[in-house]
Amino acid sequence: MNSREYVAGRRPLMLARGLCKTYLRKKGASVDVLKGLDLELMAGESVAILGQSGVGKSTLLHLLGGLDRPTGGGVEFQGRDLSALGDTELSRWRNAHVGFVFQFHHLLPEFNALENVMMPGLIGRHSFGPARKRAAELLDSVDLAPRERHRIGELSGGEQQRVAVARALYMKPDILLADEPTGNLDERTARKVHQLLDRLNKDTSLTTVVVTHNPELASMMGRQLSMVDGVIAPYDKEGS
Ligand SMILES: Nc1ncnc2c1ncn2[C@@H]1O[C@H](COP(=O)(O)OP(=O)(O)OP(=O)(O)O)[C@@H](O)[C@H]1O
Ligand SMILES: [Mg+2]
Repeated sequence: MNSREYVAGRRPLMLARGLCKTYLRKKGASVDVLKGLDLELMAGESVAILGQSGVGKSTLLHLLGGLDRPTGGGVEFQGRDLSALGDTELSRWRNAHVGFVFQFHHLLPEFNALENVMMPGLIGRHSFGPARKRAAELLDSVDLAPRERHRIGELSGGEQQRVAVARALYMKPDILLADEPTGNLDERTARKVHQLLDRLNKDTSLTTVVVTHNPELASMMGRQLSMVDGVIAPYDKEGS
């Protein structure tokens, strides 16, 4: 199977099959969070995942993005089973293919916006000049060129999240996973960040998965899914 077949949408870019995650706790107690979840993501689509607090949305994103490993079932990316990868290979795969945006951006406060965006390049030992240029272009694409030199604490919540999106794009990921990227923003700012994600998806065909509690923001994505009791359930707009 060549990679064009994934882009052409003949095969899912990413596939979760029978995904299970049980967290083991002290004294032998355990929590079954994912209970045989199936999910197909086609290249270029944008998907919103909704569901109650504690249902396992972050757990799912972590498994899809190779930040954690399932206790049952598996994730395939372009037909490749992630469970076959060792820890070093898995982080290499993640750096090459996945961009993450978290609810609380995880930016480095002692650095400015530009430095934060180019950080994955510096860690990956990219040459400084081209890394800086790419970071500047990305900041421009999220309308933050005038804020390049601002430290993270000097930016608004929405601006910080746009920096986080730019940083997640630095390595040219095939898939962007955003875990409540607007959960701590006011409605208007949140809508702007969602519009940015929508524009990126439409302009660059970046496959995008966004966890959100907000049905209105979720409706901006191409497909809405709901998580209930450890699996994907049909999305009920009224009931959610
Ligand atoms: N490392 C862990 N050890 C034990 N239990 C965990 C761990 N991480 C998550 N859990 C439990 O797994 C369940 C799902 O957590 P998760 O963070 O995936 O939920 P969520 O749907 O993202 O919730 P929220 O909307 O509040 O962010 C919760 O009950 C949580 O307590
Ligand atoms: Mg969560």
